Amino acid sequence: MIIQKPKGTKDLLPEETYQWQEVENKIKKVLESYCYKEIRVPVFEHTELFQRGVGETTDVVQKEMYTFDDKGGRSITLRPEGTAGVVRAYLENGMASKPSPVKLWYNMAMYRYENVQKGRFREFHQTGAELIGTSSYLADVEIILMAIQIFKKLAIPNITLTINSIGCPTCRAKYQEVLREFFSQNIGQYCETCKTRFEKNPMRILDCKEKKCRTLNIGAPRMIDYLCEECKEHFENVKNTLTALDVDYEIDTNIVRGLDYYTKTVFEFIDNTSGLTVLGGGRYDGLVEEFGGQPTPAIGFAIGMERLIEMYCENHKNLIESIPDIYILSMEHESIEAIRLAEILRKEGIIVEKDILQRSFKAQMRYADKIKAKFLLVIGETEIRNHKAKIKNMQTGDEIEVSLEKDEIIQNICH
Ligand code: HAM
Repeated sequence: MIIQKPKGTKDLLPEETYQWQEVENKIKKVLESYCYKEIRVPVFEHTELFQRGVGETTDVVQKEMYTFDDKGGRSITLRPEGTAGVVRAYLENGMASKPSPVKLWYNMAMYRYENVQKGRFREFHQTGAELIGTSSYLADVEIILMAIQIFKKLAIPNITLTINSIGCPTCRAKYQEVLREFFSQNIGQYCETCKTRFEKNPMRILDCKEKKCRTLNIGAPRMIDYLCEECKEHFENVKNTLTALDVDYEIDTNIVRGLDYYTKTVFEFIDNTSGLTVLGGGRYDGLVEEFGGQPTPAIGFAIGMERLIEMYCENHKNLIESIPDIYILSMEHESIEAIRLAEILRKEGIIVEKDILQRSFKAQMRYADKIKAKFLLVIGETEIRNHKAKIKNMQTGDEIEVSLEKDEIIQNICH
């Protein structure tokens, strides 16, 4: 029996990797146009990093992490998200002393033990951006504009930007009290996890995925009504600037986000067709300090790549995959010349295929046709002797004689 892949993982076959690369390259261009630089961090970290960063009472930490003891007895976790690792790397590598703000982006696999369903996997990929070192509302605006540019660059329509503010530790203290009062009426009916959240972090109950908890949450007090003056002003500035720039957005006071590090502005981009969140982010002004650094405000987002690429493919049906520019056909005894020529052309960036199965002339012709080679070049004894060969355009059937010089060949197949 063939061993199957673990539940919640995906194989990306060559047809799909072309689509991924196309999307990744376009996103990279946008990120770099805003001066973001790529960072890559380990796929596993000390479990404590996520417990402290993402939060002990979040679904991610309580239910979804791939955690194990390594052979040295350390508790290790496969990263469920990118922000915690990036902030750790920022501190550990002295990036705090670089000119501020520090702008980083990543494209990495993430791991969460989730209930697998449409758009939800156990291994998935995020492209994220982290802007570290500014508390200004202009940073919130710039990062939201950058996210919009990504969707524009990919020509993905039908998405809604939703924003909210979830305040800072100062205003949240009061809000937590009011929330506790609300939940206390029905706390017996909530799921066991929510019961444990009631004392420690009642806001997390708002983010529970259990249906019965969601129903009980209807009518809960809203954070937006308890913002302190500073948070209120920050949110007003973000909204007014977005409006002045003609950015369409909706305020969704239900956005609480699933990770504990968020403060002030939070935002999500929703795919209107599937209802799924394709991009999520927000400010995390306390995280750098939580990890032992100086108080350093920051903001970022991450795009769910599987979700984004599904949307991209729905809007771009005719994707081109890489096909050979030329097939060099030769029989066994002439193949040294064919190998040489193939190597020379490949060095020039031409996509070349040739026989390595010692197939017959006819079989090679059929194969060149099957792999949709654009041109065919036959090298036999005569061609080698005369240093001349015919190039056939496989679509039109037109033939042209060229010398076996790379420049002449390239000229005739690249126009
Ligand atoms: P998040 O909302 O947990 O935020 O994830 C961001 C995006 O990743 C989601 O909106 C979704 O598109 C995708 N995603 C999450 N879980 C899954 C899954 N199981 N399967 C497929 N896609 C998924 C973060 O992770 C934050 N680190 C984002 C951030 C960066 N905030 C500030 N900086």
